[in-house]
Amino acid sequence: MEVKEAILNRKSIRKYLAKPVELEKLERLIELTRRAPTWKNAQCYKIAVVQGESIERIKNGFLEAIDSGLPENPDYPYQEFYPSYTKRRMLELGASYYGHLGVDRKDKEKRKELLLDNFKFFGAPVGVFFLMEKGMGYWPSLDLGILLGTFMIAAREEGLETIAQASLAAFPDVVRSVLGFEANWTVAVGLSLGYADTNAHANTFTSSRVPSSEIVSFHF
Ligand SMILES: Cc1cc2nc3c(=O)[nH]c(=O)nc-3n(C[C@H](O)[C@H](O)[C@H](O)COP(=O)(O)O)c2cc1C
Repeated sequence: MEVKEAILNRKSIRKYLAKPVELEKLERLIELTRRAPTWKNAQCYKIAVVQGESIERIKNGFLEAIDSGLPENPDYPYQEFYPSYTKRRMLELGASYYGHLGVDRKDKEKRKELLLDNFKFFGAPVGVFFLMEKGMGYWPSLDLGILLGTFMIAAREEGLETIAQASLAAFPDVVRSVLGFEANWTVAVGLSLGYADTNAHANTFTSSRVPSSEIVSFHF
């Protein structure tokens, strides 16, 4: 696949076919992704791929945590402060996505259902967790972001689609207990992976970007 096509037509996929992903594809994808650069080649992260029984156990663990009213407890606190110009963009995303689905923002039941879809990996057969050791700061996180981005683009070469999800890092103890990682391995972010359900209306949504002039400047 052309790089331009891989980047331009990538989008967050929120409905997947139940079709499992072949191990050889996953292995090729991970090896390609691992060409992503890191500071001094430190590669200080782990990638955990779950499918079959392990994704089911994690999904059930998430849903049980939510059912029992456990508060979200991410290893990395959510960003609380966002400048107003970014808040506007975030609100616009919510409004346009719910508008696309025809969901009234006041429809609490439907919104809850959509939120829960996050914890069901949007029906994807594969989940991917990106882990970092406790104590890693800004630069390793930057490396991890590059890895995540590379993964999302590389997946398309295998005919697979993705969505990065902060929500999959909301209950890290569930992930650690199912996968057997020690508490010093934090869940930085998760991702759902699989074959897109191309008939799903949710997947016809394309998010916007602000005009380039708000972000980019050239200095010659
Ligand atoms: C680090 C990160 C975390 C995200 N977490 C979630 C999430 O928990 N749930 C969700 O529906 N989308 C999540 N997204 C997807 C973003 O909403 C999406 O990337 C953004 O709206 C741009 O749309 P696009 O990916 O279709 O281009 C996340 C994206 C990133 C990069």
